[in-house]
Amino acid sequence: MSAHEDYGPKELDLEVPSAARAYDYLLGGSHNFKIDRDFANQVREHSPWTPNVTRLNRSFLGRVVRFCLDQGITQFLDLGSGIPTVGNVHEVAQQRVPDARVVYVDYEPVAYQHASAMLADNPNATIIQADIRDPEFILNHPETRELLDFSRPLGLLIVGVLLFIGPEDQPAELVRAYRERLAPGSYLAISHITGEHASPELQAQLAATVAAYREANEQLVIRDHAEISSWFAGMELVEPGVTFLPDWRPDTPDEAQDLARPLGYGGVARQP
Ligand SMILES: C[S@@+](CC[C@H](N)C(=O)[O-])C[C@H]1O[C@@H](n2cnc3c(N)ncnc32)[C@H](O)[C@@H]1O
Repeated sequence: MSAHEDYGPKELDLEVPSAARAYDYLLGGSHNFKIDRDFANQVREHSPWTPNVTRLNRSFLGRVVRFCLDQGITQFLDLGSGIPTVGNVHEVAQQRVPDARVVYVDYEPVAYQHASAMLADNPNATIIQADIRDPEFILNHPETRELLDFSRPLGLLIVGVLLFIGPEDQPAELVRAYRERLAPGSYLAISHITGEHASPELQAQLAATVAAYREANEQLVIRDHAEISSWFAGMELVEPGVTFLPDWRPDTPDEAQDLARPLGYGGVARQP
């Protein structure tokens, strides 16, 4: 049972744009509806960088998974995993380590259904439809316990999702609740939208995007470097620290030129 009645899985709602489905659309996916596409296009009209920031975030996620594999991590808990799209965590991980284990968590029904279908024949990966604000439910879930061994290091991925967790849900406490369960040598990855170093023009567009998301199923929260970095306190930050997304261990220099560069932070830290 969920500890909070209002933290249960979401129902499919086609009256309200879904942030998960709009993200899928912006990444070029097809698991979205007209209401989501209209919403994403409307946001893109005033904030032309929205597809860029989704791509930079997704690209960061891929580099993080490969970095974790390089450190010997072969099990992942992916919170707010989204609708399956290019470069899913289990694909990146199992390409190199065929029996790598992945537990995805998302409360959005389309994300859950498509991931379930995709993983039906994959004994080492699963999705739980749950609200990440309920860590006890997720950490004690039978599928989590079956696939993940918390006595060994794992990769905890909280990528592109804390921007939907408002201050009233105490994101710092939430991250701590998951961190407490990590074995030494585990890694925590977080990415988040930001605006503190954006130009006035980008900041105005960001404000318009936040306003537009009031019509969506999730509200967008913009945070600064200090707050995002605080969630890693007490852990060993991996070089180069909490940086703009394209600056975190880039594969190619191209993304550093992206107009959305100052709009997202990402970082990874090791549990001592
Ligand atoms: C922007 S997508 C990010 C997907 C993926 N992590 C990535 O970085 O590519 C955010 C996802 O978080 C999910 N999400 C938002 N709040 C959530 C919550 N409280 N519990 C579970 N999932 C949530 C949304 O449904 C959506 O699929």
